[in-house]
Amino acid sequence: MKVNQAEFIISAVGPSQYPEDALPEIALAGRSNVGKSSLINRLIARKNLARTSSQPGKTQTLNYYRINEDLYFVDLPGYGYAKVSKTKREQWGKFVESYLLERDVLKLVMLLVDLRHPPSKDDQAMYEWLKHHDVPLCVVATKADKIPKSKWAKHAKIVRETLGMKKDDVLQVFSSEIGLGKDELWEILEEAISY
Ligand code: GTP
Ligand code: MG
Repeated sequence: MKVNQAEFIISAVGPSQYPEDALPEIALAGRSNVGKSSLINRLIARKNLARTSSQPGKTQTLNYYRINEDLYFVDLPGYGYAKVSKTKREQWGKFVESYLLERDVLKLVMLLVDLRHPPSKDDQAMYEWLKHHDVPLCVVATKADKIPKSKWAKHAKIVRETLGMKKDDVLQVFSSEIGLGKDELWEILEEAISY
């Protein structure tokens, strides 16, 4: 997709703040610090439209970015950040869950994992939860630049196996740092919003 316009719209804390123009939405899920905001920036070729930080757990709202008049990226709060209180974690959990289950313009969830390591228990739970509820998803294994190219395939296989991915599920190896996988991922996203 040619990105002519990318704009931050809102940090939504509840459904009343979600956009009402019915554009398709693509959400990003993944643990804190896995690289969700960086992936958005890479896809739209902007340095820092989506706020990135080395402090995990920063994004606590649903952050909406409008791309052209075509779609929204919805940057979800990262999960699995231990320093956030349990009550707060549960609140976010409910909030994110209702979004994922009830948002009818949601076309795809990109579940981000770190290509370097086997997916965590939280990643596995998230994958299973999305599959259980029939939420369309693709897994994006990011930070590929941090390991040698010769190891990508082996690590991708470990990701697939650890998550117990179905044959038809898509896994895309990615790097926000070097732009690896960008065109392939855009193709997946364009297909997801095309019907
Ligand atoms: P939260 O908003 O806290 O949930 O984090 P996030 O998932 O949005 O992560 P973010 O994009 O802020 O990235 C976290 C850190 O990882 C930052 O220091 C990024 O620069 C770094 N990072 C993200 N993606 C990549 C990547 O593909 N390669 C490398 N080398 N670093 C990355
Ligand atoms: Mg973020």
